[in-house]
Amino acid sequence: MSTIALVGAQWGDEGKGKIIDILSLRSDMVVRAQGGDNAGHTVIVNDEVYKLRIIPSGILYHNTQCIVGNGVVVNPKVILEEMDNLSARGVSLDNLKIDARAHVILPYHIILDGLAEDARGKADIGTTKKGIGPCYMDKAERIGIRMYDLVHPEIFKQKLERNVSIKNSYINKIYGAEPLDFEQIYNEYCEYGKRLQPYVCDTSSIIYKAIKENKRVLFEGAQGALLDLDMGTYPFVTSSHPTSGGFCVGAGIGPTLIDKCLGIAKAYTTRVGKGPFPTELEDEIGDHIRKVGCEFGTVTGRPRRCGWLDLVILRFAVRVDGLTGLALNKLDTLSGLPKLKVCVAYKRGNTVLNDFPPDINELAECEPIYEELDGWNENLCDVKAYEELPENAKKYIEFIEKNIECPVKMIGIGPQRTQNLYKD
Ligand code: IMP
Repeated sequence: MSTIALVGAQWGDEGKGKIIDILSLRSDMVVRAQGGDNAGHTVIVNDEVYKLRIIPSGILYHNTQCIVGNGVVVNPKVILEEMDNLSARGVSLDNLKIDARAHVILPYHIILDGLAEDARGKADIGTTKKGIGPCYMDKAERIGIRMYDLVHPEIFKQKLERNVSIKNSYINKIYGAEPLDFEQIYNEYCEYGKRLQPYVCDTSSIIYKAIKENKRVLFEGAQGALLDLDMGTYPFVTSSHPTSGGFCVGAGIGPTLIDKCLGIAKAYTTRVGKGPFPTELEDEIGDHIRKVGCEFGTVTGRPRRCGWLDLVILRFAVRVDGLTGLALNKLDTLSGLPKLKVCVAYKRGNTVLNDFPPDINELAECEPIYEELDGWNENLCDVKAYEELPENAKKYIEFIEKNIECPVKMIGIGPQRTQNLYKD
C-alpha cells in the first residue's frame, strides 16, 4: 500500500500547493476530501503560474487521476471556470472525477455567508464569503443539494424549489435583502449540471480499487489543523475537517488505508481572518516577513498576519494529525534576520502550557515563551542539498525536529518545484 495524506499543520496557507505538486508527480491518484473554493493552491511550473481552487493539482500531469471527493463542497460555476481555464492551457480533464455525494454551493449559500458575516459586525469570523459554511450547514441539516441531484434535473428542481423558498425567508425576512429567483438559478445550474454530468460518479469505490491495486494515492489537504471545525480555534475555523481524519470521511475510505501523514508548515506562522495568534508580529519584522514571503491570500488577496514559528502549534498538529513527517516551507524567507525566535510553550498567568489550549479564550491569554536562535544571511534559493544549508539554518531545522518529535523530511527554499531539499 502506498498512500499518503498531506495536511496543513498551521492555520492554512502553508504552501501545500507546491508540495502537493511535487508529490503528485509520483502519484497515480490525487484526492481532495474537504473544503471547497475557499482553498487556493498556487503551482508554478516552468514559470507558468496555475491557481487551483477545487481541482487537485495532479491534473497538471497526464496520467494522474484526480478526485474531488464526497466531503468537498463544489461551486459548479467555479469548478467549470477552473476546468475551462485548464483546457485553454492544454491541460486534459479526462482524469477528473467528482463524487456524486459532494454537496453543491448555490447562490443562496454565498449570499447568506456574506449577510451572516455582516450581521456579526465586529464579531465576524472573517470567512472567505464563498458560501462554504452555509453549504455545510445544509448538509448537516440534511436539506443539501448534492452533485447527484445537480445532474438529475427533476430531482434538482424539487430540492432547489424547496431550498430557494426556505433561504429566501432568511435572506428577506431576517436580513432584509433581495430574495432570489428560483427559475433563474434553476436554468443556470441545469446548464452547469449538464456539463459536469460526465465527471460525476462514486469516487469512494474508485479510490478503494486504486489502493487495492497498489496505486500511489495522495490525499490533498486544504486549510490547516487550526482551522478544523472540531480541533481548531473555534469559532475562527472553517466548516470542514482539514485534519487527517477528514480524509476518511471526506473520501469514503477507512483509516487503515492511509500509510503516512505529511504535515506542511511554514518556517514561521501566518493566519488570515480573525482570532488570537500568540506569536503574531505587529512590527517591522512582521512587515518584513509579509513582504519577503509574499504573504497575501490566493483567494481573497488579504494581507496575512505574520509571526514567529510556534512549536506548540506544530506539536498539536503532530498529535491530532498523527504526522509521520513534516515539510518545512519558505525557509528562504527568514534569510537575513539576525535572530530568530521560536515559541516552545505558552505562559498563561503563572502556568506554563505545553499543549495548545482547547478554547480561544484561553489562547487569547497565552504569552509565547521563546527560545532565540541565531539567523543566517545567505540567500538559500540555489542550495542543492540539505548539507549545503548554512549551519544556523540546519540548527533551526534540527531544533524544530527535536522539539516536536517529528522528522523534517522536506525543506522549501523557493517557489519553484526544484527549490526543495530532502532530509533523511
Ligand atoms: P470559510 O472557510 O470561508 O468559512 O472561512 C472560515 C475561516 O477559515 C476564515 O478565517 C478563513 O480566512 C479561513 N480559511 C478558509 N480557507 C482558508 C485557506 O485556504 N487558507 C487560510 N485560511 C482559510
